[in-house]
Amino acid sequence: MVAESNMKRRRSSACEKAKELQAINSVISGKNVLVTGGVTGLGFAFVNQFLQHGAKRIAILDINDDARIRTLNGIEKVYGKDKAIFINVDVSQQDKMIDAFEEASQKMGGIDIVINNAGILDERRWEKEISVNITGMLSTAMLAMDHMGLDKGGRGGILINVSQHVDYTISAQLPVYTATKHAIIGLSASLSSPQRFEKSGVRVLTLCPGLTETALTVESPNKLLSRVMKADFVKNLEHVTIQTPFVVAQGLMLILRVGAPGSIWVIESGESPYEVYVPEFRSLRRHYKNNFTVVETVKIQHGRPIREECDNTRTGLMSCA
Ligand SMILES: NC(=O)c1ccc[n+]([C@@H]2O[C@H](COP(=O)([O-])OP(=O)(O)OC[C@H]3O[C@@H](n4cnc5c(N)ncnc54)[C@H](O)[C@@H]3O)[C@@H](O)[C@H]2O)c1
Repeated sequence: MVAESNMKRRRSSACEKAKELQAINSVISGKNVLVTGGVTGLGFAFVNQFLQHGAKRIAILDINDDARIRTLNGIEKVYGKDKAIFINVDVSQQDKMIDAFEEASQKMGGIDIVINNAGILDERRWEKEISVNITGMLSTAMLAMDHMGLDKGGRGGILINVSQHVDYTISAQLPVYTATKHAIIGLSASLSSPQRFEKSGVRVLTLCPGLTETALTVESPNKLLSRVMKADFVKNLEHVTIQTPFVVAQGLMLILRVGAPGSIWVIESGESPYEVYVPEFRSLRRHYKNNFTVVETVKIQHGRPIREECDNTRTGLMSCA
């Protein structure tokens, strides 16, 4: 009796899995995908998942020319010839990125999905960090909208911006990197407003991976602003569960299937993705009760409404709108 019910459960779970796989394939199969920073790390894991789920062709935009041949040979062995093209381009160089998108689009016959992934962690070269993580991601996102947007003659599509799971236990030693990753949340929010989505038909989603085992993470203790920070940083890292790029890439496939325009997804500690949201700032406003009085009466003077001066004598904190 028990064996029979176990068998039934296993059969229904296999059936669920097959259905899920079919649903993911229906989003990805036959699509042309562009991945920035796709030669190693998370980007390479994304490339593999896309090909496994039937993507038609992949364009990898990356600066790592040394790893190019190994990556392309590996892809050819597993998925067959001409599945991937490599374009050597630095995402922070806008004019070169325009050409790279053009080349990718021509060679693949259009672009349907863009993974805005290339990023670095190098607090010592923080100007470079800003130019790759913000300028590079901005320019990739804008070009993605230009190539896929219905309003720009494209056929609609999906743009994934890669941010970071905001974990304040490790951000104390990473002020610039953390700031650049916060910027991506703002970028996605702007590009995914309902007004824009209606016109562009591009679903903009944000992926926030937690700590993941890649070169970026392994080298991070040596990329801090000062050596003094290293001990604290390494100690804090020990409290965070690290996950593999494979788990993040698998989770991304699920997000592609279910993610609504503008949604933000966290994948951390090797677990299934979960959605988060950025609260409306006004709803976060602090209200002080007994410490000081807030005067907010509105008077009409000469036909115009004006706010009375706030009582800020006790705190100096209040300002009047
Ligand atoms: N590893 C993590 O724990 C983690 C966590 C959250 C977010 N992320 C983000 O995920 C993304 C990928 O990171 P990763 O961990 O795979 O790093 P990685 O260093 O393993 O891979 C980054 C890839 O981007 C390429 N690249 C770097 N600079 C480039 C440039 N200017 N132009 C084009 N390509 C460039 C590299 O050659 C490499 O192939 C980054 O945006 C990173 O900020 C990583």
